[in-house]
This record gives sequence, structure tokens and C-alpha cells, in this order.
Amino acid sequence: MHIHHTIAALRDGLAGARRIVLVPTMGNLHDGHIALMKQAREHGDTVVVTIFVNRLQFRPGEDFENYPRTLAADCERLAAARVDHLFAPDETEMYPAPQQYYVDPPTDLIGILEGEFRPGHFRGVATVVLKLFNIVLPQVALFGKKDYQQMLVLSNMVRDLAFPVEIVAADTVRAADGLALSSRNGYLTPGERAEAPRLHEALSRIVAAIRAGDSDFGALEQAAVAELRDHGWAPNYLSVRRKTDLQLPSAGEADLVVLAAALLGRTRLIDNLEV
Ligand code: PAJ
Repeated sequence: MHIHHTIAALRDGLAGARRIVLVPTMGNLHDGHIALMKQAREHGDTVVVTIFVNRLQFRPGEDFENYPRTLAADCERLAAARVDHLFAPDETEMYPAPQQYYVDPPTDLIGILEGEFRPGHFRGVATVVLKLFNIVLPQVALFGKKDYQQMLVLSNMVRDLAFPVEIVAADTVRAADGLALSSRNGYLTPGERAEAPRLHEALSRIVAAIRAGDSDFGALEQAAVAELRDHGWAPNYLSVRRKTDLQLPSAGEADLVVLAAALLGRTRLIDNLEV
């Protein structure tokens, strides 16, 4: 695996590369990330991974400073997954001067769910991802459905700005007990880790109820929120939405996804399930 820390070195390394597939990450790689790398191989010839903890997408008071940075271990995992190129820039390489041009996703999509609780987050994500696209010039890019709203923001961005890249959405990888893998799971105490699968269980029950014909989404949501609260969680949102645009579904709508974010102790976990 070739490791590059500068844009110039990466571009040299990619000169003449055939069909480039990009997997952007913030590092501290787990099996969910590695599943993306393996899938990437099926979509092209040259697999490029980026590791960059992007300050622009964190709000003051969030975990930017403490976000786990584990580059040496990440490199080993990426090499074992047969990744061709790793781009791991430092902050001055990505932001030599304060970023002045931003991608502003539409309020409809970023004023809700994650965007409501993390104002500015998706603007920072869209901006860094467009910048990474311009640096790597991939034909394909993979994103996880674990971050469903992010995946939608980025798919719509490339469509709206006519960026010539195909976005592939990958299924969420879970631990055996159902907890979606996340770098933030490392923040959980052993007691919280044992409690954490309840979020996925709550989503699964709602999906099962909807599949069985229950259409009282409000009641299903309230019951799940109450159960989480009873077990010490502080839910931010738990909501049944239309898959295509994450707006509230109209009656009889079939293409649905249930999304949730909740604090367990000091750790904020997000998850979702398609119906
Ligand atoms: P990060 O949280 O490191 O995630 C990198 C990619 O891995 C994202 O596409 C995310 O959805 C995917 N992913 C994370 N956990 C997963 C799981 N359990 N199963 C499947 N895929 C999973 O998301 C980001 O970084 C950043 O916002 C980024 C897009 C890199 C921009 O900075």
C-alpha cells in the first residue's frame, strides 16, 4: 500500500490509474470500514482510502480534539484489506488557509434529524468530501448507510453539482448483538456497551410492526423513546421517514427508514433501519 500525506504525492501516485474507487474515512478503522474497502474492490481497479479528521464538520464542544487517531493500526488494517493507496493529509495540507468556499446543502435535508442536532455538520461534511473528490478524482465513492442522512446529502450533492462520480451505499455492519459498529463505541463503559444494543432492538421492533401493518408511526416512536428513556438513554430523535428525502411519510407510503440518535451516558450513538 502506498501512503501519501500530500496532495501532490497522491496525484503522482494515481497518475495513469484505472477506475479509481474512493472510501473517505476519519480513521480509527473497524470492521464496518473494512467492509467498505472490500466492497470497493468490486467497483474498480484502484482503491483509495482517505483518513482525515475533518474539523469543519465538528461543532464547538463536540469530540474533535478527542476523536481517536490510530494511524499506525489503521495502516495495518488497510494493507491487510489490499487497499492500494492511503491519503492521510494533516490539517495544513487540507486547509492551508481557513476554508472560505463551502458546499451548502439544502435546508430541507440538513435542518432535520442529525442536522437539527448538529448545525453546520453536513456543510462541513459536504465541503470536505467535495474537496476529497477533487483531489482524488474517483469514478466511484462508497459511503455507509450507517450514516444514512450523510449518504443522501452526498448523493444529492454530486447529482446537483454534476460531479462525475457514482455513489455506492453500503449496508451497516453490526456486532453480533446488533450494535452498529462505530468509532464512538470505544467511548462506552462496559455497562453502557451492554446496554447499547437496545437502540437497534428498538428500531427493529418498529420495522417489524410496520411490516406487520401498523401505520401509527407516532405511537411506535413514542413507545421506543419511552423505553430508551427508562433505560437511561437521552434520545435526540427517533423517527420514521421517507427513504428518498427523509421527510415525514404520507399515508400509505412504503419506502421507509427509521432513524435514531441518542445519548448513552456521554456517548452519542446513531443508527437506522430500512423497512
Ligand atoms: P467515518 O465515521 O470514519 O465513516 C467513514 C465511512 O464508513 C462512512 O461512509 C460511514 O458511513 C461508514 N461506516 C461507519 N460505520 C459503519 C458501519 N458500521 N457499517 C458500514 N459503514 C460504516 O463518515 C465519516 O467518517 C465522515 O463524515 C467522512 C464522510 C469521512 C467525511 O469527513
